[in-house]
Formats: sequence, structure tokens, C-alpha cells
Amino acid sequence: MSDQGTMKRDANDYLTYYNASGKVRTFSGIQPSGEVHIGNYLGAISNWVKFLDDYDCFFCIVDHHATTIAYDPARMPARVFDAAVANIAAGLDPERCVIFVQSEVPEHTELAWVFNTVTPFGDLSRMTQFKQKSQQHEENINVGLFTYPVLQAADILLYKASAVPVGEDQVQHIELAREIARKFNTRYGDVFPECQAHLTPAKRIMGLDGENKMSKSLGNTIGLLEEPESIWKKLGPAKTDERRKRKTDPGVPEDCNVYTSYHSYFSSPEDLSWIQEGCTTAGIGCLQCKKRLFKNMLAVLDPIREKATGLRARPDFVHEVLSAGAERCRGIAAEVIEEARTAMGLHRNRV
Ligand code: TYM
Repeated sequence: MSDQGTMKRDANDYLTYYNASGKVRTFSGIQPSGEVHIGNYLGAISNWVKFLDDYDCFFCIVDHHATTIAYDPARMPARVFDAAVANIAAGLDPERCVIFVQSEVPEHTELAWVFNTVTPFGDLSRMTQFKQKSQQHEENINVGLFTYPVLQAADILLYKASAVPVGEDQVQHIELAREIARKFNTRYGDVFPECQAHLTPAKRIMGLDGENKMSKSLGNTIGLLEEPESIWKKLGPAKTDERRKRKTDPGVPEDCNVYTSYHSYFSSPEDLSWIQEGCTTAGIGCLQCKKRLFKNMLAVLDPIREKATGLRARPDFVHEVLSAGAERCRGIAAEVIEEARTAMGLHRNRV
């Protein structure tokens, strides 16, 4: 079955692809690099779930991206499996979206090569994530780390996805992907849409240290599937508003990471007013406030953790979802690569 849709300009004048049923495609990805954390959940995955009804959704576990830093090959299959479990448990219903593993669709790397030839070196040198990662991994600044955003552009555009729900740290990469699509289209004709990033209000969740973005590499995370006791051990000492040295010192919730990064997203408006009142008048202490957060967090995280436990007990189901996803993607990828090859004149027989 052909997956061909149409390309039109949207209300904001971005070239957008609509699939055969008139839906816009969504693509997003997550690296299988350790535990999925609540930053990933609030900033990206929970938004992906909201896209399920209205968009044609593709979600990818980007294992090739994860190999740009040193890793243990023996652990990779489990990391991919864990990422799939966490995402399905968090709400990516396999009946309503495609979930797959990047390396199972080889066209991602083929398109990345094509895009390498239209991506300016200077643009890649300006990528913030490359600068950060090459500082963190001084001993392994490989070319893959440098061209990482080109593979990311290929991930998105291989499916002609126009809407890319991500956290703030990925916006620069999505803007570059749009530039790459434009560069390709200018040179070879309109094949790829001009993708756009979609953010949630939780676009940059801070870590428990209150100083850095929550990140697997900084050890400041709360795992999406973490056991309650372990979460509480982390919340207890988490940094709050510095004004609240003693319980009798009033504080400002907006200056407290526990409030702005976690309560804001896990707690009800009633609980937020209770904190506003209690914190600013020193009517409640930080421990009381954290206990309420813990309760509210568990109301969201318990069902996800339970669902993940159920999925782990059915590994065949998870593998079937990923295999079916890759098969669907290979069909689309083959068509889009063919279109790109034709546009580029890469057909020996067509003299
Ligand atoms: P990754 O694996 O680092 O993160 C997955 C998603 O989670 C978001 N995120 C956050 N959002 C808010 N607060 C945080 N503290 C936080 N930490 C992570 C990320 O922004 C991301 O949306 N390069 C990508 C993966 C990728 C991709 C793609 C994404 C590869 N190809 C194509 C979109 C489209 C990455 O490393 O995400």
C-alpha cells in the first residue's frame, strides 16, 4: 500500500506533509541510555501521548544516537527493551502509534549521508549539545557526535514528519532539521517538509540539585519507574528555597525547585494554593510540602510502574510491537528514499 500523501503550506507558511488520510505526521525519539526520567516524561513523552488521537504518530528508540558515546554492547539490548517498556507504560498505546528501533530501519543512516552533503559545517559547529557533549566526553569526540543532528534530521524527515514534540534542549536540532530540509529542497525540489518543534510548559525540568536540567548524565534524576522508597530518599534532601532555613522562615514557592519543577506538574490547583499560602506564611514546612508532592507523584507514577511490571512479564508482546513498528517504517522509508534518490539523479538506468 502506498503511503503517499500531499505537501502543502500550513497556516504559518511552513511546508507541511499530510498523509493519505490528511493527518500531519509526528516523529520523536528517545535515547536508550539508562533510565527514562520524569524530565523525559513531563517534557516529551506525556506530550507524545496527547498527539496520539490527532496525528499520525511515530516514536523511535534511537540506538544509533546512543552509540556516539562509549557504551557496553552487551547491555544495549536490555537498554532498548527498557526504553520500550517505559514508553509504552507511560501511555504510548501501540494500537495508536508506531514504536520502533532506529537501527532496524537502515534508511535512517542512508538519508543521514544525503543530508551530510547539504548541511553546512559551520551550522553543526554551533550546536550547543555538541559543545556540551564534547566537554563531557573529551576522550571520545567522534565525528558521529558532531553529525548527530544530521541523523536526527534524517529520523524526522524520513517519515516526512512535520510536528516534533520535544523538550527545549532539542529545539536547536529541530530548527537545523528544518534548515536541512530547505537546503535539500532548494537544490533538488520539494521532497521534505519544514518540521517544527512542539514544546510543553514543562520544556526544561530541572534536576534534584536545582541547578541543572534533569539529565541522565548528571545523576540528578527521578526515574519514571523508580521505586517509591528510592524516590522519597531523593526528595527528602532535595534543595528548596534558600530562605527557608528554619521551619518558621517564610519562603517564595516560585524560588523553590521542588515547587516550580515538580509540584507545578504533579499537583492539583488546590494543592498549589495550599503551598502558596503555607510556604509564604511559614504555615507549613518543606518536609510537609515534599510529602504532599510524594503522594501526588505516586498517583501518576504508580500506574505507570505497575503497567511496566506487566509489560516486563510479556517480553514477546514488547518485541512484537517493535518488530511490527520497524516493518511499517521500512515500507515508508523505502518510498521516501526512492523519492530522494530520484530527485538527486541517483539512478544509473535513467540516462
Ligand atoms: P533524549 O533521549 O535526551 O530525551 C528524550 C526527550 O526528553 C526531553 N527531555 C527533557 N524535557 C524536559 N526537561 C528535561 N530535563 C528533559 N530531558 C530530556 C528531550 O528534549 C527529548 O525530547 N536527540 C534526542 C533524541 C532524538 C530525537 C530524534 C528527538 C533522536 N532523533 C528526532 C526528536 C526527533 C535526545 O537525545 O533525546
